[in-house]
Amino acid sequence: MTVQTDIFAEWAAQVLAVRSGRWQPERDRAFWHEKAAHYDAGQPPLPNTVAWLRERLTGADSLLDVGAGTGRLTLPLADAAARVTALDHSPDMLAVLRGKGPPAHLDMRCQELADALQDPTLAPHDAVLSAWSLAYLPDLRAALTGLLRLARRDLYLLEDDGLGSPHVTLRRQLAGQPRAQRASSLRRALHALGESPEHRPITEERELTFPDTAALLAQTRLPLPDAEALAFLLPYLTPEGGGWRYRWTFDVHVLHVPVRERP
Ligand SMILES: C[S@@+](CC[C@H](N)C(=O)[O-])C[C@H]1O[C@@H](n2cnc3c(N)ncnc32)[C@H](O)[C@@H]1O
Repeated sequence: MTVQTDIFAEWAAQVLAVRSGRWQPERDRAFWHEKAAHYDAGQPPLPNTVAWLRERLTGADSLLDVGAGTGRLTLPLADAAARVTALDHSPDMLAVLRGKGPPAHLDMRCQELADALQDPTLAPHDAVLSAWSLAYLPDLRAALTGLLRLARRDLYLLEDDGLGSPHVTLRRQLAGQPRAQRASSLRRALHALGESPEHRPITEERELTFPDTAALLAQTRLPLPDAEALAFLLPYLTPEGGGWRYRWTFDVHVLHVPVRERP
């Protein structure tokens, strides 16, 4: 017997179980209030993902980036479209974006997604992008249906599948924490809505350098004896100037829904 699970109920249960309560918009905004100033420093650049998206966006009349944050993707993609809207509910994240001097054709919109989806002043855009911004929305069905409605040509959802750095992945495994498989969940959710998204994993590289072994172990915080932690990390390490270069790859999962054929 096959047990059919409702992906939307499953997603909502996971979101509502998060201890931080970030499914409440004011909690999520408070989180970003604390993090906004340091967000960019902790994020890897995504050159391959940007290049892939730029190629597809070029010539688009308009791009809507939902949960644009500090503009990590919005800014390098901005010159591919004639008009760009950066929507985010965090004034702090948008303040960082504003501080980078966005181009004149980029409009910043500080609004909760659920409100924006009911707001007739938010017109459809050729392309809609949402990168790591749906994670705390309990009503995924409403969010995706709304994004599909706003996308005239293409919807792009970007997520990872909970496999990031080797040390965080191992820490979670050792703590018995299941990894969030959001990319797979989004894919199932789109299928449940009758869509057939193209799934494109794009490999990116991350690199950190450490002046010595103590600094490496302090940052990776593996709950193992030092020698075991170092043995685990070794395949990703290259000695450099008495310290270490720590390099790994990870996949960004792009789900692309072409919506051209819709009336
Ligand atoms: C993890 S950050 C990703 C930012 C950017 N897309 C990137 O890839 O760097 C998630 C962003 O989504 C925004 N966000 C989360 N939930 C939102 C909602 N319900 N409405 C509007 N923005 C939201 C947050 O404020 C935050 O800036």
